[in-house]
Amino acid sequence: MRIIVDTPENIARLAAKRYVALLKEKPNAVLGYATGSTPLGLYGELARLNAAGEVSFADAVTFNLDEYVGLDGTHDQSYRWFMDKNLFDRIDIKKENTHVPCGIGMTDEKAAGYDRQIEAAGGIDLQLLGIGNNGHIGFNEPGTPFGSVTHVVELTESTRQANARFFASIDEVPTAAVSMGIKTVMNARSIIFIALGSAKAEIVKKMICGEVTPEVPASVLQLHPDVEVYIDHAAAALL
Ligand code: PGA
Repeated sequence: MRIIVDTPENIARLAAKRYVALLKEKPNAVLGYATGSTPLGLYGELARLNAAGEVSFADAVTFNLDEYVGLDGTHDQSYRWFMDKNLFDRIDIKKENTHVPCGIGMTDEKAAGYDRQIEAAGGIDLQLLGIGNNGHIGFNEPGTPFGSVTHVVELTESTRQANARFFASIDEVPTAAVSMGIKTVMNARSIIFIALGSAKAEIVKKMICGEVTPEVPASVLQLHPDVEVYIDHAAAALL
């Protein structure tokens, strides 16, 4: 685990450089993307670099971590919508090469097909991750087995509360999601992890310095051979 502590602006720039380097070396790289507020700086930087002609996503393939169950891609809180608006519509990627799990009619059986799609594409070269206040990666809530593949997840109350800010009320926050499993994430060849802000300081400490346990899903990253952890000074405050 390589830990980089910097400002949010520099983190966006440094992380973006990884994409530029990877896509130069492997234009058809398979990229694992994440949603939430954390990657927005990085996505802005990737869009800027793409517009400046410094990187092309024309042959890249992407797989997103997760999606809410019950929201289709036209819902403005769906992760398909988020990705189109914040990244895919701003870069030269082919929409048909972008994958976000389907939130409608999803079952565990169908969800596992997502892992097969990832494998068929050659596996994920670079997976981006944020972290929930309870240590979740993707929507893998505490207690998710490390051997899990893409599956349907019942969201915890703390995750629904944390995400309620994006909905008119907590009642509108979906109660379930479909998420890559921990094993799916760990199969990525390289991982970029980003955590920003003081609200993440405690969980970042547990993830980096604590016991490797399903109770802190992100702690599994201690076992991955190629993880870059980007944290701002506020999130690094307890290290
Ligand atoms: P955030 O969410 O980027 O909005 O903090 C991260 C997560 O819950 O994984």
